[in-house]
Amino acid sequence: MAVATTLITLLLAASSAAQSIEGLGVSGGNGPRGGIGDGAHPVMRPQAFITDAKIPTAPNTTRQLAPGRPPRLVLHNQTSPTCDTRRRVVIDSSTGGAQQEMLGFGHAWTGSTVSVFQTLEDDVLDRVMQDLYGQGGNNMGFMRHTIGSSDLDGNQYTYDDNGPSFNQGQPDLDLSNFDIGPHGSAMAEMIARMGSYKGDVFLFGSPWSYPGWMKHNGLFIAPNLNEGSYSNLMNNSFNMQYIPQIIQYFSKYVDAFLDHGVSVNGLTLMNEPLNSQGGYPCMFLDAADEAAILAQGLGEEMHNRGVKVMAYDHNTDQPMYPMRVVQGAPEYTDMAAWHCYQGPVANYSVMRDFHYAYPDKLQFMTECSNYLPEAGSVNWAVAQNFIPPVRYGASGGTMWVMATNPDFGPHSPYGGCAGCLGSIVVNSSTTYTKTNDYYMIGQFSRFIRRGAVNYKVLEGMEGTTYDPNWFDLIAVKNPDMGWAVVFMNNLGSDQDVVLSFTEGDFEWEGTIPNATVVTWLLPSDQIVGQSGVLPLASGTAVVGTGTGGGTACPTTSSMMSSSSAPPTSTLKPVPHTKHTISVSSGSSSVS
Ligand SMILES: *[C@@H]1O[C@H](CO)[C@@H](O)[C@H](O)[C@H]1NC(C)=O
Ligand SMILES: *[C@@H]1O[C@H](CO)[C@@H](O)[C@H](O)[C@H]1NC(C)=O
Ligand SMILES: *[C@@H]1O[C@H](CO)[C@@H](O)[C@H](O)[C@H]1NC(C)=O
Ligand SMILES: *[C@@H]1O[C@H](CO)[C@@H](O)[C@H](O)[C@H]1NC(C)=O
Ligand SMILES: *[C@@H]1O[C@H](CO)[C@@H](O)[C@H](O)[C@H]1NC(C)=O
Ligand SMILES: *[C@@H]1O[C@H](CO)[C@@H](O)[C@H](O)[C@H]1NC(C)=O
Repeated sequence: MAVATTLITLLLAASSAAQSIEGLGVSGGNGPRGGIGDGAHPVMRPQAFITDAKIPTAPNTTRQLAPGRPPRLVLHNQTSPTCDTRRRVVIDSSTGGAQQEMLGFGHAWTGSTVSVFQTLEDDVLDRVMQDLYGQGGNNMGFMRHTIGSSDLDGNQYTYDDNGPSFNQGQPDLDLSNFDIGPHGSAMAEMIARMGSYKGDVFLFGSPWSYPGWMKHNGLFIAPNLNEGSYSNLMNNSFNMQYIPQIIQYFSKYVDAFLDHGVSVNGLTLMNEPLNSQGGYPCMFLDAADEAAILAQGLGEEMHNRGVKVMAYDHNTDQPMYPMRVVQGAPEYTDMAAWHCYQGPVANYSVMRDFHYAYPDKLQFMTECSNYLPEAGSVNWAVAQNFIPPVRYGASGGTMWVMATNPDFGPHSPYGGCAGCLGSIVVNSSTTYTKTNDYYMIGQFSRFIRRGAVNYKVLEGMEGTTYDPNWFDLIAVKNPDMGWAVVFMNNLGSDQDVVLSFTEGDFEWEGTIPNATVVTWLLPSDQIVGQSGVLPLASGTAVVGTGTGGGTACPTTSSMMSSSSAPPTSTLKPVPHTKHTISVSSGSSSVS
């Protein structure tokens, strides 16, 4: 019976979503579908998991994916009318409320990640991989990696430098010197290890620059402005005469990774194509050129290899960019990719505009990072860059660097992010630390299965990303037809929540503690109906164990005082993530 139910629910889930993830080459198999909320592991009782936004000052002093008091079941409209201090959250569970399908959440493989993982003893590396990709770990299913080096890399290289150094290459017209080299091989081999934990991660690659010889300035990394070379920086752009070569470059890269057992599923043509500065691996590529490269052969080569093309890969302040790529190469642009670094905060509602223009294209938040987070501070970087993008159409998100050493590296000496934090800090060959970001990502990646459908939230949010205090949530229906609801409570006080759906007879009530991200897992209506636990006449019923009967209102005794008090707390905003550092003159020369 479970199998039959699963089939039906999968069909329902897929057919009701506006943007489908079908045809991405990863929807079957093991993958991040494997886990709680999939057809084989349906949610049988309500559960809550809590991560405190506070970065602990000592190990294990905050809640980190800690089981919380499960939400309690009540009959629709049966809660006491006197419970007016409670926050009413309403999900449009009708067909019209169904939005995009979800693909997954994850991180980026960088040179730093690979090199710190290489220092781990094998059994310790195995534990890290379980923590990141195992079903009992974060179960991440949507991953990015750098093609060649980025700033989070101790080495500087592309896959065809064709010269004595990364900045001294000569044109290699037939790409005969293409070689992913020791660093590329090491990355591919490390990425291939994901396969032991996860058959089916969606992996996409992004270059930080094309090889220097393909650019007008001939340089992988242009010198800093303070060295007086404006012209090099102005020419830090792709020389379009090398379109045949860049098509070969990407094709050879996909093939080389496949030779190492790694399937590349997606590609962004350039990380941050509008970011052109000195002292940092980057390259200007405007939207018309991105479209031209696709239309003149890259799109076809990638599609022949089953690789989806993701346009843009940069901040929300230039929303026309991905639209222009679609206009220039409509059949070869599959998705749009957005970053979070627009100051002071990303305006993800531009994704809704893109969705209206191109309803069949998927969207993702593909880069955001915590920056020098301090122990004891309150941090929302993950939740505030995963929840709004999903509301506006993202099928998933990747935070930036996955792992570093304790000094936020190894790092390029030539600039870039000097304080980007990942999920894992490797301290020694036998010791690593999971950061607050690790647990925050887990609030999403552990519970939102591939193929889940995001539904409209009609009521219950308060404030926006622009406000110091903010309550937000997303609600997805997993393939088991149960719900995963992720809340972030940055309002300054505990929030008693009554969650209801426009269709269905059940409501759920519970408390979202102050300064936390909480995920509720709710069984499907069918399982609640079959569980044989009838709602009490007084309005409250309980399924599962350990929750006891109880009254409909209030949900906690300590609650009433704090939730009736005005939210006075002024939370420290997430530090503005600056994606560059100034390199002091003298140490910044580029050879
Ligand atoms: C923190 O908790 C983990 C998991 O329960 C445990 O393995 C670890 O030893 C604890 N660390 C400290 C310092 O208590
Ligand atoms: C619950 O109450 C709302 C608002 O009063 C009403 O629109 C809705 O029809 C009621 N639902 C049920 C199942 O009684
Ligand atoms: C910049 O690029 C243009 C076009 O390729 C070229 O004519 C010019 O010499 C370049 N300038 C420098 C300083 O490289
Ligand atoms: C965010 O973008 C939308 C367009 O989608 C625009 O209407 C709105 O004004 C922008 N908000 C801010 C604060 O810039
Ligand atoms: C590892 O390094 C991080 C970052 O410096 C630090 O917070 C953590 O306490 C260290 N852990 C151990 C076990 O040394
Ligand atoms: C809520 O949490 C914030 C951040 O930790 C804190 O400053 C504030 O005092 C808390 N509010 C209450 C009512 O405890």
